[in-house]
Amino acid sequence: MIENLETKLPHTLAHFGIFGSLGTITEGPLITDVEFKLAEGSKFAYVEKMIRDIARELGVSGIRVTEIPNSTYISFEIPQPQVETIPFPPMVYSTEFIKSSYALPICIGVNMRGVPVMKDLSKMPHLLVAGTTGSGKSVGLNSFILSLINKKKPEELQFVLIDPKRIEFSMYNNQKYMYIPVITDMNEASACLEQLVNEMNYRYTLFEQEMVRNIGEYQEKGLKMPYIVCVIDEFSDLIMFDKTVEKQVLMLAQKSRAAGIHLIIATQRPSVDVMTGTIKANLPTRLSYKVSSPTDSMTILNSTGAEMLLGRGDSLLLEENGMLTRVLGAYVSNQDIMNMLEPYRCAEPQKFKDILAQRQQQAKQNYQNSRETEPKTGMISKFTSWGERIGKVNQRRVVNFLLAIVMGIVTNMTKSSSKKSTSDIISGAATSAAKSVKRSVKAQAKRAITQAVLDSLNKKK
Ligand SMILES: Nc1ncnc2c1ncn2[C@@H]1O[C@H](COP(=O)(O)OP(=O)(O)OP(=O)(O)O)[C@@H](O)[C@H]1O
Ligand SMILES: [Mg+2]
Repeated sequence: MIENLETKLPHTLAHFGIFGSLGTITEGPLITDVEFKLAEGSKFAYVEKMIRDIARELGVSGIRVTEIPNSTYISFEIPQPQVETIPFPPMVYSTEFIKSSYALPICIGVNMRGVPVMKDLSKMPHLLVAGTTGSGKSVGLNSFILSLINKKKPEELQFVLIDPKRIEFSMYNNQKYMYIPVITDMNEASACLEQLVNEMNYRYTLFEQEMVRNIGEYQEKGLKMPYIVCVIDEFSDLIMFDKTVEKQVLMLAQKSRAAGIHLIIATQRPSVDVMTGTIKANLPTRLSYKVSSPTDSMTILNSTGAEMLLGRGDSLLLEENGMLTRVLGAYVSNQDIMNMLEPYRCAEPQKFKDILAQRQQQAKQNYQNSRETEPKTGMISKFTSWGERIGKVNQRRVVNFLLAIVMGIVTNMTKSSSKKSTSDIISGAATSAAKSVKRSVKAQAKRAITQAVLDSLNKKK
């Protein structure tokens, strides 16, 4: 913490005509959080405008000022002279993480008080990450991947890693967790995303057959289906190269949540041509590391502030509910990655084309199996399965109604005097059936049968 901050800050603020009283001061690993109650009638917008000058006078860079929701205080986030590094392994080996009940838990880092921040990727349901070069995106992505690897077995979780820069994910090759080998070629990226869209559609067919709505319910039935997490390290590069990728990503973002397919998309350039309105609408959870301008911060978080972050994993997390939390990312070293991946190395090196063909074949096979085990399409079986779906009470109603129609037809046909046309007979029967359903169907049916028998006897005479 800056020396004598509790006296220095009010003095400095006073130089700029900002008066008020200090609240609590909390020291965290990255910043000191100072609560301050502005004097009555003061404007927050003015403090925001003067923040760069206040920082300069205090001799620090990157002070962030925010309003505290539902409070009369504002908060000054003043960087520590020495920023702590939060190591990743202790977070992921903590009992809190091991015991977490989340389907896909990821460690984001620690909040400004040093408390670990964990989120469930399956609830997000996708994550958009932005930040200028060197801000900590790749370190963040590695920590998310390793969080998941530490919680799930390879048969429960598979990864698709797209890395146009070629270097970030190379150590994940030949891992049992890979749905497909790490993708570095842009043409392969499009083919793989296409396969993911197909996989999603195949999964929906399986859900339909099992009459479940999502992967959770499917797994509850004791059936196996792994989650798939697709991580794209440089989305803008990918989209610039091939526009069809955007369509595929959108399709996945819109529909893949229930199918257990989740996206983590990172970009260095959060410009409006990459972060289009539709992409943003489908990825409500976003994490912004330091960005280069307030405009970029607006694009990704819908508010300024990410340009004031300090880099090295300092980030703002925008949650689905619109809450903004400042988080310091945990640091994952290359050695951590190697250690955690070592037990899951495949014996045989894998080739993209072979595995893609294998995946396509597998998905098709699942799809065909589901078709074969689906109920036969004959009238009776269709009727039976339809009967199962509508329930017993409705079944009884339908049978009563049909019975009444038949009785009505018999009654109308056997009446010797009436020379009605077939359509008249049927409509007459339907009307009386509807009436009879309302009244006691059984009594009506009995009467109709008796009448029919008597009429036919009279006719013979
Ligand atoms: N959470 C962190 N704690 C400490 N240091 C960090 C953290 N995250 C990143 N760094 C430091 O910042 C450097 C750059 O991080 P990283 O490679 O993740 O940036 P990037 O955003 O992926 O950059 P680029 O866009 O160029 O790929 C790291 O090598 C590391 O020294
Ligand atoms: Mg990177």
